[in-house]
Amino acid sequence: MNGRDLVRSVKAVASVGAAQGVRTVRAAWRRRRADATGLPARGAERARVPGPVEDVEPGPGGGVVRFSRSELRILVAVNGAVFWGWDGAGPEPSYALAGRCPEPDPRAVLEPDNWDGAGPEPSYALAGRCPEPDPRAVLEPDKDGGWRVVAERVTVVVSRHGAVEVRTPGGVTLRRDLPPRWWEPVGGGPARWMQRSEVGADARFFGLGGRTSGPRLPDGTYRLWNSDPGRAFTPGDDPLYITMPVQLVVSDGGTHLAFHDSSWDGTVTLHEGEEGAGSGHDRAGTSELRMDGGPLRCWVMVGTPARVLLAWASLTGAPALPPAWALGHHHARWGFGGEQEVRRIVAGYLEHRLPLDAVHLDIDHLDAHQVFTVDQDRFPKLPVLAEELRREGIRLVSIVGPGVKALPGRAVYDSGAAEDAFVRDASGVVVEGVVWPGEVVFPDFTHARVRAWWGALYEERLTQGFSGFWHDMNEPTSFTAFGESTLPRSTRHSLEGRGGDHREAHNVYALCMARAGFEGLRKLAPEERPFLFSRSGWAGMQRYGGTWSGDVATGWPGLRASLALVMGLGLCGVPYSGPDIGGFDGDPSPELYLRWFQLGAYLPLFRTHASLRAGRREPWEFGGDVLEHARVALVERRRLLPYFLTLAHLARRTGAPYVRPLWWAAPEERVLRDCEDAFLLGDSLLVAPVLEPGAVRRAVRLPRGRWYDVATGQAYEGPGQVLVDAPLSRIPVFARAGAVLPVRGEDGGLELDVWAPARGRTGGGLVVPDGGDGWDEPEIERYTARWRGSRVVVERAGEDGGGAPPYPVRVRGTEET
Ligand code: NOJ
Repeated sequence: MNGRDLVRSVKAVASVGAAQGVRTVRAAWRRRRADATGLPARGAERARVPGPVEDVEPGPGGGVVRFSRSELRILVAVNGAVFWGWDGAGPEPSYALAGRCPEPDPRAVLEPDNWDGAGPEPSYALAGRCPEPDPRAVLEPDKDGGWRVVAERVTVVVSRHGAVEVRTPGGVTLRRDLPPRWWEPVGGGPARWMQRSEVGADARFFGLGGRTSGPRLPDGTYRLWNSDPGRAFTPGDDPLYITMPVQLVVSDGGTHLAFHDSSWDGTVTLHEGEEGAGSGHDRAGTSELRMDGGPLRCWVMVGTPARVLLAWASLTGAPALPPAWALGHHHARWGFGGEQEVRRIVAGYLEHRLPLDAVHLDIDHLDAHQVFTVDQDRFPKLPVLAEELRREGIRLVSIVGPGVKALPGRAVYDSGAAEDAFVRDASGVVVEGVVWPGEVVFPDFTHARVRAWWGALYEERLTQGFSGFWHDMNEPTSFTAFGESTLPRSTRHSLEGRGGDHREAHNVYALCMARAGFEGLRKLAPEERPFLFSRSGWAGMQRYGGTWSGDVATGWPGLRASLALVMGLGLCGVPYSGPDIGGFDGDPSPELYLRWFQLGAYLPLFRTHASLRAGRREPWEFGGDVLEHARVALVERRRLLPYFLTLAHLARRTGAPYVRPLWWAAPEERVLRDCEDAFLLGDSLLVAPVLEPGAVRRAVRLPRGRWYDVATGQAYEGPGQVLVDAPLSRIPVFARAGAVLPVRGEDGGLELDVWAPARGRTGGGLVVPDGGDGWDEPEIERYTARWRGSRVVVERAGEDGGGAPPYPVRVRGTEET
């Protein structure tokens, strides 16, 4: 043990209690030993580049280009997505893709542009499959000995040394991936690789999973290794729980998404470019991806942001549709302590007339923190409590962690051991880690049989009365006194029968756990859509559910980080998420709590949550004013539920996130790319949260068009920046002129809120009515709003020539013209 490890061991014992501390010291040593013997030693390496081109072999959608020391497979798909893989890599196997490849899906035809035309009805479920090769896309010679594939939406040019360039049909280069470089261990084994890419001088980077700064990613190095930071995080902490090699790049030439499909550990270093102010000396933006292993392969999607996210969802799967109640308000806490406390909190909500839709029970409701158990002393009649809450319209959500207490005689452990479900080290011994219950073992979710076993365990939770599931600690986290707080890298995994170790399985562990839970619930309760959200995950996790911020630090920087996370994840295809309102770890001031609450009311997951040792999070704990203003936010959220449900359906059908950066509909408006303090909620609303203490006014950047401040009705013309009131009682929210929004009327029925279009213009909106929490596929209703004389008339668009909407309509903004 070196001196530093000794100090960290002593600290660990002191900070988590003696017994757990000793366990974490032992676990750290076990981890170190396992990797010392179970991983190949990193010896001498040989560097390699593709070398010059030698020949080509045309194939469907492209073909293979052979270089002297590698070969490149290119495939342009019918939806315009481009795939390329080096060294023989194909699109499969992949944890990001949702299905077998290639398999044509005749239903995958939705184009966002079709909504207001008579285009094909959108397919309910995006295919989540590797798209079909475009038969018209063929490899042909390009200048200087290179090759190219010209397709309708994209041109791919391969230089004779292996640079791959993606161009728009108009000839603008969006991305240039330079010839890659590999470092291969001389004795064999996985090669490290590096891929440097160039983008436009004006380009901005977004994505990479859940990052704390942004959503525009500042220059710097980002790690691709799902990690529990071990304490509440603030902006700049990196990496966090969800990392993804997914970049969304916005530039004047167009928007593109690039996904390097390798789940191994790696880093991405980003540098924005610089324009030479017309001097002709622009400096390109660069991204340098370095991976410890895995295939070197890439998907690129090009087009408008909506088109890019549609293509991404077609590839990786449609976002799961949460049940309607999950779009309401959730209240959580680590340490409710018992049934009486839960009843007290719920009574507080009812007494103060605060809408509440779900209560979450954290690890303290479990028997000695063991998954799929209940502490019978504190929660002696959980099903009765669940039923009581259900009568008030409140659902119970349960935390679920992957670690299973390593104790023979316990049901979950015994059944898992009988299934041979737990991961083993290189010598075949089951790996033990440490989480809340003490020494635990970890299921291998990369094995179909293990997923089926785990999925069936949710039956116990359903019997207890739970309706939703909150996956935690699944990076996976295993507490260690020093070194990484996760499993040894040498831990063996099935990887669907291919076999491999934790270096490859780590980043997809939570994704596979989510799959296990989701598929189990579909079998156990087939009539209801599962509700599941997970702290960790990877590309494609949206197929099974959403996520949340994790342990965001209480403080104004944490508030800002929580918005960056939600926006960034949405651009990686994960549309349902939200922060711990008030922050996870401390005592927010009444003002900070309120501002966080007001932001949360406009995010998909609207949940108050805090740590065992943190202050209260109930709205009435912060004084009369905060209570009053929080009630306004809650009531407004409930009023907007039909709009949220519509956005959830649209996310499912199109991949578009509910929460979008301001540039979503106007990526060419450069100033919008830098805006980090406001967002679009669907097509109709713009939300400008207050992210600073003491502010009662704020500047808001508006995209092109007319926008109404919904509180005052005042109209503003964009593009531009306006200064508006942001009193403690509310945050500024704007409606787009012409918007038709479904809202909940006072009698609970659906109504349409309409904002007058500017004179001479028309507007409209989509409504997906509530089809219940099952699998019904309500039809999208389309409405138009137009001026007729001095009135704004709203009509349902349809093949039969339209007609009056079947809902009450309220038009605002007419007096402004
Ligand atoms: C870590 C999670 O991020 C947090 O939300 C939860 O309260 C604790 N684990 C305890 O379960």
